[in-house]
Amino acid sequence: METAGKEEISVEDEAVDKNVFKDCSKIAFYRYIYRMNFQEWDYWVKVCICVLHICRRQKQQRSRKSIYQALLESVTTGKESTRFQVVNKATKVSLLAEIYGIEGNIFRLKINEETPLKPRYEVPDVLTNKPSTVRLVSGSGDTGSLILADGKGDLKCHITANPFKVDLVSEEEVVMSINSLGQLYFEHLQIPLKQRVTKENEEGASVDTSQENQEDLGLWEEKFGKFVDVKVNGPASVGLDFSLHGFEHLYGIPQHAESHQLKNTGNGDAYRLYNLDVYGYKIHDKMGIYGSVPYLLAHKPGRTLGIFWLNASETLVEVNTEPAAKYTLTQMGPVAAKQKVRSRTDVRWMSESGIIDVFLLTGPMPSDVFKQYSYLTGTQAMPPLFSLGYHQCRWNYENEQDVKAVDAGFDEHNIPYDVMWLDIEHTEGKRYFTWDKKRFPNPKRLQELLRSKKRKLVVISDPHIKVDPDYSVYTKAKGQGFFVKNHEGGDFEGVCWPGLSSYLDFTSPKVREWYSGLFAFSAYQGSTDILHIWNDMNEPSVFRGPELTMQKSAIHHGNWEHRELHNIYGFYQQMATAEGLIQRSKGKERPFVLTRSFFAGSQKYGAVWTGDNTAEWSYLKISIPMLLTLSITGISFCGADVGGFIGNPEAELLVRWYQAGAYQPFFRGHATMNTKRREPWLFGERHTQLIREAVKERYTLLPYWYSLFYRAHVAAEPVVRPLWTEFPNELETFGVEDEYMLGSALLVHPVTEPKATTVDVFLPGSNEVWYGSKTFAYWEGARTVKIPVALDTGSAMGEFYLDDGHSFQYLHQKQFLHRKFSFCSDVLMNSCADEKGHYPSKHVVEKIFILGLKKQPSAVTTHSPDGKDQPVAFTYCAKTSTLSLEKLSLNIGADWEVHIK
Ligand code: NOJ
Repeated sequence: METAGKEEISVEDEAVDKNVFKDCSKIAFYRYIYRMNFQEWDYWVKVCICVLHICRRQKQQRSRKSIYQALLESVTTGKESTRFQVVNKATKVSLLAEIYGIEGNIFRLKINEETPLKPRYEVPDVLTNKPSTVRLVSGSGDTGSLILADGKGDLKCHITANPFKVDLVSEEEVVMSINSLGQLYFEHLQIPLKQRVTKENEEGASVDTSQENQEDLGLWEEKFGKFVDVKVNGPASVGLDFSLHGFEHLYGIPQHAESHQLKNTGNGDAYRLYNLDVYGYKIHDKMGIYGSVPYLLAHKPGRTLGIFWLNASETLVEVNTEPAAKYTLTQMGPVAAKQKVRSRTDVRWMSESGIIDVFLLTGPMPSDVFKQYSYLTGTQAMPPLFSLGYHQCRWNYENEQDVKAVDAGFDEHNIPYDVMWLDIEHTEGKRYFTWDKKRFPNPKRLQELLRSKKRKLVVISDPHIKVDPDYSVYTKAKGQGFFVKNHEGGDFEGVCWPGLSSYLDFTSPKVREWYSGLFAFSAYQGSTDILHIWNDMNEPSVFRGPELTMQKSAIHHGNWEHRELHNIYGFYQQMATAEGLIQRSKGKERPFVLTRSFFAGSQKYGAVWTGDNTAEWSYLKISIPMLLTLSITGISFCGADVGGFIGNPEAELLVRWYQAGAYQPFFRGHATMNTKRREPWLFGERHTQLIREAVKERYTLLPYWYSLFYRAHVAAEPVVRPLWTEFPNELETFGVEDEYMLGSALLVHPVTEPKATTVDVFLPGSNEVWYGSKTFAYWEGARTVKIPVALDTGSAMGEFYLDDGHSFQYLHQKQFLHRKFSFCSDVLMNSCADEKGHYPSKHVVEKIFILGLKKQPSAVTTHSPDGKDQPVAFTYCAKTSTLSLEKLSLNIGADWEVHIK
C-alpha cells in the first residue's frame, strides 16, 4: 500500500470518533427544532455553534399556522395533471401545485415555485419511464374545495383551499392527509442582498430587510468546522407533512444502522438521508450512511401505503406516532359523547433544495405497494446465477500466488465458492483499470485459472481518479472536461486512496457513455469476460472534505451544484458500470456490479452491501433489519460483510455469520487490512466443517434463490421479506426483525447471540403448519417454539438421581446423588447437580450412545478432573449417524468429560 493511502486510512479510521459527521444538532435546519420547540436556543448560542441550516427554518414552520392557501379558481386540467396555484399568504409568493393520477393507484403531487429565479433541480433518470397517467375527474365539494377522483372513483384527492390541505380518500376513508399540520415550506431562491441593493437603489425601490436578517443569521453561508458552504441564491429548502390515519407501523428510508420498524424521532433525532462514508458506523443511529432511498411504507391490517419523496439533496425525515387513545370526550351537545380516537403517524419530509415531488402509493396490500414502487423505479436486475453463490473477498489478496492458494484452499477443504475478489491494491497505485505489475503480472493467466474451475473475478473500480498526467484515464477525462468542477470552474480535486484525485461526473450522460467504454476488453487491458465490477467510495468519499464527502458547492453537468444531487451520485456510477459490462458482451451477458452508495432505483443495476461493519455480535444482529429495510424498498440483492469488515471475529461469531449470511441475498466474506486472515479453514476442523455445511446449504438452495430473484425481477416480490409483508393482518408480526421469510416458503431465524444453545422462534399464521428444515419437526403456527441451536451436533441435557432406594436418609442425611449430564459442542459432561447430596456409589457408566452425529470422529477421549486423559474405543455408523462408546467404566458420582474430536 502506498504512503498516501496509508495516511488516508487513518483519516477514515478516526472519522467516527472525531465528530467528523454532523448530528442533527449541527444541521442548521434541524437545530431550529430546538429553538422553536424546546427553547434551547440560548444553549446553542452559549456553546458558540453558529451553524444555521434548513432544518431550523423548516422547524420554525411547525409552530406557525399554515401560511399557504390554494387558489382553486386558478385550477386548470391538462392532459396529464391538474394544476393550481398555492400562495404564501405572508409573502404572496406563488407556488404551482400539480396532481397526477398514475396507473396502478398512484398519485403524484409536485410543488415548485411558480416563477423561480432560476430552475430548481428535478431528479432525472430515476423513474423508469414516464409513468402513464390516468385522467382525474374533478368535482367540487363546495367553493373552498376540489375533489379529484380516478376513473373508478374509489380513490379520491380532496383539496381544501384555506388553509391548503390534501386528503387522500380510499373507499370513503381518509387514509392520508397532506399539510394538515401546516408544515408545507418552500424557501424561494433569491438574489444576494448586495446585488439587490444595487439594483433596487438604481430602481429607487425599498429593500426588504427579511433577507438581510437571513444573511446575518448565516443562512446564506453555513459553517461546519473549517468548511464554509456558500449558498449562491440563499437557502432553498422544501418540506411537507403527511398524516397517516390509523397507522402505527412505518418502515423504509434506508440506509441506517437501525431497527426495521421506524422509531419516533423526538428531540432533534430525525432520520438523515445523506450518503456518507462512515467507517465502523454506530448502530442504532439515524445518521445517514452510504446510500439513501427516500421512500417509506406504512402498514396496518388491511392497508399498506407508500410515500416516495423524489429528492436527491440532503433530506431529513421525522416520524411521530400518536397511539390510539381509547376514548376522548367530544364537545357535542349537553351530553358529552365518547368517541374512539384512531392512532396516527405524522411524517415530515425536509430537503435542502430541489422541489417537492412526491408519489403516494395506495396499496392496499404490501404486494401492491411493491408493484407500485417498481412501476416507478424498476425492479431488481436479474442477477447472473454465479453471483448468488459464495464470494470470497479481502482487502487485500496480496498477489497472484496468494489468490491461487486461497482458491486451492476452497477445493482442498471441499467448500464451494464462485467468486474471488480483488480490492484496491491490485491496481498500479490505485489507478483503476490497471494492474500492479509485481503483484499481478499476468491477470489473464489468473482469470484463466479461475475460469477453468467455472469461477469469476470481481475487481474494484472507484469514482476518484488519480491526478497524474501519465495516467491515461486521468488525462482523457481531464481533456474532455469529464470531472466534477469546483466552484471556481476548475476540476474539483480531493484526497482519496490514490492521494490527490478528481472525480468523474457520472451525472453527465456523456461521461457515463465514456466510462462504460472503459470496460471494453480492448480498453481494459488484462480483463476477460469473467471479470465483474465493484464500485466503492462513491458517496463520494473525499477524505478531507466536509463530513468526508464533496463540497456542496461543487459543480456538475448542467451547472447543477452538488448539493442538489449528492444522494444520486453513486447511483449513476453503478448505472454506467453495469451498462459498460453489458456493452462489452455486445448486449448478451448480464453484469454483476456491487455498489456501496445507492439511491431509489439502484436495484436496476445490481447489488448493494452495508459497508464497513464490525466483527461484533451486535453488527451481525443489525444486519437482519438493515437488509429487510433495503429489500422492501426495492433493493433485493443486498448483503453485509460476513465476519464483519473491521476487527477479528472469534470462531463462533464467524461460524454464526456464515450460517446467517448463507440465508442473506448477497453472500460475501470480507475483511479489512490489518485483520488476521480468516479463510474458512483457519479456525480448526470443527469450525471448518460448520462453515462448509453453511455454505453447502446455500448451494443446496441455489435453485430456490434463483427462482426468487426471478420473481423479484418480474413481479417486484422482495426476496427476503419481513414477516409483516407475508402475514399483513397479524399484528404480532409487525415488529419482528430477528427472523424473516425467504420467499414465501422458508422462515429464517439466524442465531445472533454468543453461546446460544436454543432460540425462541416465532411461527406466524394460525392456519399455517411449519416444519423444521433439518429435523422435519412439525408445529402449528401462531406460537413461539424453542429450537436447539448448539453450533453443530446439537445439545442435550439430562439428570440422574440415586439413593438407597427406600429410606428417609436422602432427606435427613442428604444421602443422595444428583448428577447433571450435558452435551454441547461435542463434549459430554457429567457434573454435580446438587452439592448438598453425597452418596458413595460404585455404579459406573459402561456404555454411551450418541444420536445425530453427522461426521465420523477422529478420536474420542475421556477426561477426569485429576487430569487423566484416556482414549476410548468407538464405533461410528454413518448411515444412522450414531456413535457408540462401549466398555467404559466411568463412576457415576465423579466429574468427567467425554470429548469427541
Ligand atoms: C471501503 C469499503 O467499504 C471496503 O469494503 C473496502 O475494502 C475498502 N474501501 C478498500 O477498498
